[in-house]
Parts: sequence; C-alpha cells; structure tokens
Amino acid sequence: MINILVTGGAGFIGSNFIPYFLDKYENYKIINLDSLTYAGNLENLKEVENSNRYKFIKGNICNQNLVEFIFNEYDIRAVIHFAAESHVDNSIRNPSIFMETNVNGTFNLLNSAYRYWMSSPFKYRDNYKKCIFTKETPVGRFHHISTDEVYGSLGESGLFREDTPYAPNSPYSASKASSDMIVRSYHHTYGLDTVITNCSNNYGAKQHSEKLIPTIIRKALSGEPIPIYGDGKNIRDWLFVQDHCYGIDLVFHNGKSGDTYNIGGENEKRNLDIAKIICEILDRKVPKKESYKRLITFVEDRAGHDRRYAIDATKIKNELGWRAKESFESGIEKTINWYLNNKKDIK
Ligand SMILES: NC(=O)c1ccc[n+]([C@@H]2O[C@H](COP(=O)([O-])OP(=O)(O)OC[C@H]3O[C@@H](n4cnc5c(N)ncnc54)[C@H](O)[C@@H]3O)[C@@H](O)[C@H]2O)c1
Repeated sequence: MINILVTGGAGFIGSNFIPYFLDKYENYKIINLDSLTYAGNLENLKEVENSNRYKFIKGNICNQNLVEFIFNEYDIRAVIHFAAESHVDNSIRNPSIFMETNVNGTFNLLNSAYRYWMSSPFKYRDNYKKCIFTKETPVGRFHHISTDEVYGSLGESGLFREDTPYAPNSPYSASKASSDMIVRSYHHTYGLDTVITNCSNNYGAKQHSEKLIPTIIRKALSGEPIPIYGDGKNIRDWLFVQDHCYGIDLVFHNGKSGDTYNIGGENEKRNLDIAKIICEILDRKVPKKESYKRLITFVEDRAGHDRRYAIDATKIKNELGWRAKESFESGIEKTINWYLNNKKDIK
C-alpha cells in the first residue's frame, strides 16, 4: 500500500478526487488532512469513510509538528495539495487567512516533504533523485493544485499558456501565485519532485453554496434574486470537476518533474449566460408559472473583478493525452441533477 497525503480533501474538488482516485488505484491509501473550515464537509466523503484505504485527520496544514508527524507515522510517499482558502470575495474582505493558509501552509508542506524525503536522517535520501514517483518506484512527488487566476485578466482574445507571465489581481490569486513560486523554488533549489496544475473554474457536484453556479441554482429554487456582478459579461472557462480529477491523475503520474500544466474545459461563458442556461434547465426540470430568468438581478461589481480567463490546454493534451470528457451542456445538466437530488445541501 502506498500512502498519499491529500490536503483539503473535504472541499469541493478534493471530495470529488478522493473517491475517483481510490476507485481507480487499489494500491493507494489516502491520508486526508483537512482542518474543516466552513468550506470543508465530511458528508461529501461518505462513500469512502469506511474504506481501509482512507484515513481522515482533522488538522491545519500550517501546523508543522502535525504535518511532520503525519509524514513519519504514515511514511507518506506523495502529496496532492488542494487545501486553500479559495473564495475571491472572502479574500477581499479578509486577506490574512489567505496568506496564512495558501502561502505559509504550502511552504510548511513543502518543507516537511523535503525534510522527510531528502534531508538527513532519511531513508530515501540517497536514491531520491533517480527515484522519481511512479507507480513502480513511488518516492516523493509533490503535486500542487493551483488556479488560472494567477495569470491575471485577458482582453477579448488570447489564452493563458504555461509560459504566460503571472499577474495576479486579487489577494486570493496573489496568494496562489506566491505558493506556486515557492513550489517552483523547492524544485529548482532542492530538487524536490514537484508538478503544478493551474486549472480554470470548476463546476460539478459538492461545490460550496457560496460559488457562482450553486448560488444561481439555490437562489432560483428559493425564488430569490439571482445576483450577477456588474454587467454579467465577465468570462470564465468552465471545467467539469471530474475532468479536472482526470487531469490531476495524468499529471500526478506522468507529468514532467518541475513542470506546470494548464487544465481548462474550453468552455468560455459569460456569467450572465451561465445564469440563463441554468434558468432554462430549471424551467424544464422544475417549471414555475414564470421563467426563473426573471430573478436575474445585476449587483454592484466585485472590486478588481477580472474580465476574462481562458486556458490553452494544448500541453496537457499533447504530452499526456488529456481530453475533457464532458461538454458544458452535459456537465451542467449532471450538476443541476446533483443539486436537485441533494436539496439539503442547497442552503
Ligand atoms: N474551485 C475551483 O473552481 C478552483 C479552480 C482553480 C483552482 N482551484 C484550487 O483547487 C484547490 C481546491 O479548491 P476547492 O474549490 O476544492 O476549495 P474549497 O474551498 O471547496 O475546499 C478547500 C478545503 O481546504 C480545507 N482547508 C482550508 N484551509 C485549510 C488549512 N489551513 N489546513 C487544512 N485544510 C484547510 C477546507 O476545510 C476545505 O475542505 C484550491 O487550492 C484552489 O485554489 C479551485
């Protein structure tokens, strides 16, 4: 059994990833370290909680003693690092927790991984560099999950590539950009086997109700105004969460050490259009006298709101054969079905 430390596994993407990964790889055990902030929800992991290949530990990634204990106790062979403060609006109101978790927490994990895998006294030190993580020689890979927001905002045209210069605009994206740089430095300075994935906006089951798509669904179903920032023309590139999990899987196992891979769904949509599409699906599934579209309400724009994000996913496609399996139409239908079947999660 190979023990993998997953951080933030009780959040949206982590709780989709863990069941996917355990199901696919029978020789992996996942140790899920999550402090259960407001964004973490163990209900999302019910399907794996009794598995003998899954262990949950409630704790903070910034706690050095705890993280070092986990490496030693479980002989951790790889890290997949999701844990973060992830909501841009919260980062505008309270940036300090973003710096603490996203920057210091990532640093603490890297440092513990480095100490465990590479520095003295350590059993893997002598062969670490030639023994990069693979299913056959599983020693020490650190996979950092990041965002396309580190690249800043695009104009009408253009796409984010892996060599696009970083230009983060919010405290959230600045904290993620900082963590990416620290990961990079641990590869270049200490030879740590790292990979970074920068992905676009995810959607799917289990997302926290504060995010755009769950907010639209929740407000529509409760007959409240559906808030849309500014003129609604901000564009995001939407990625179905299971397609993201598949991309992480490929990069984790086959990505080149020290490299970055962008993952995006090639589904550019304006926020206003997302709201309209969801309303049309709800009109069909849960019809009311009038269309849900009448609830769409423009509200004051978010400070520093980036206009457009869009990913060029050519590298992960060409090098690793990744393809999104879900179209936006089929993915959003599945997502809405999940929220309708799990109404208790729609607060
Ligand atoms: N959701 C998206 O659309 C998206 C897009 C691009 C990148 N990302 C990145 O993917 C990762 C996961 O995103 P998500 O949407 O699942 O986030 P989320 O907010 O849903 O979940 C974050 C999880 O991390 C945990 N956590 C927070 N602080 C912690 C700490 N100090 N110690 C331990 N655990 C802590 C929370 O309890 C929660 O379970 C993040 O790094 C985020 O930056 C997300």
